[in-house]
Amino acid sequence: MRDKIVAGNWKMNNDQYQTKELLSNLKSSKIPDDVRVMVAPSFTQLSQSKNLLNNTNISVIAQNMNAAHSGAYTGEISADMLKGIEVNTVIIGHSERRSIFNESDEILKEKVKAALAADMEVIFCFGEELQERKTNNHYKVVANQLKVALFELPEIVWKNLILAYEPVWAIGTGETASPQQAQEMHAYIRKLIAQNYNQSTAENLAILYGGSVKPNNAKEIFSEQDVDGGLIGGASLKANDFIEIFSAF
Ligand code: 13P
Repeated sequence: MRDKIVAGNWKMNNDQYQTKELLSNLKSSKIPDDVRVMVAPSFTQLSQSKNLLNNTNISVIAQNMNAAHSGAYTGEISADMLKGIEVNTVIIGHSERRSIFNESDEILKEKVKAALAADMEVIFCFGEELQERKTNNHYKVVANQLKVALFELPEIVWKNLILAYEPVWAIGTGETASPQQAQEMHAYIRKLIAQNYNQSTAENLAILYGGSVKPNNAKEIFSEQDVDGGLIGGASLKANDFIEIFSAF
């Protein structure tokens, strides 16, 4: 059985007061037993969030990290620093990191390796841009992103990997991939993993969908066979919306 996962990527939102309010609302909700619920606050709110969610089954995860252990990298955070405050999962390769901060698949590959070496779990994001879909290149683009960043990894580490397919044209736009489009891509990704590794690695891998998941479309998207949950942006900032989404399985 694959994990069902709903993770809220807060991006650069929520100060300490908003964090406290949002998390206390989430805490008082019923978290389904069979869904892993995660929130990814900004770095400055990780410790507070860990404290506020102590004794709940909501995990606190990070939005990014640097591949280096330590050193002259002004403004950066290492895997060891995250592990030091018991943040054991990190998002790597979000499209905003790729497009705004110029993170290439080569850079992301190093980050993934560093996170896995520190025994962290990684949610690896990837997905095509609108033009690439329009020109029918979306499968090729996704295959290449995975190949460069992940396919040199040994099979053993795949138990600590979660994939998040986030078509760039659906992020923050209110336009969602249809459940069929998500299912087709997720099935394709699972097939690639089976070809490059083996069937059981592919079957055990959680593949999340991200891009304008809202309370009114979550159930339909999550009910697709190869969609194992979602990475939620805007709707994870509103307690009621996020609760409805993780309750939608
Ligand atoms: P939205 O849900 O706001 O489209 O954002 C998706 C996303 O980027 C999650 O990482």
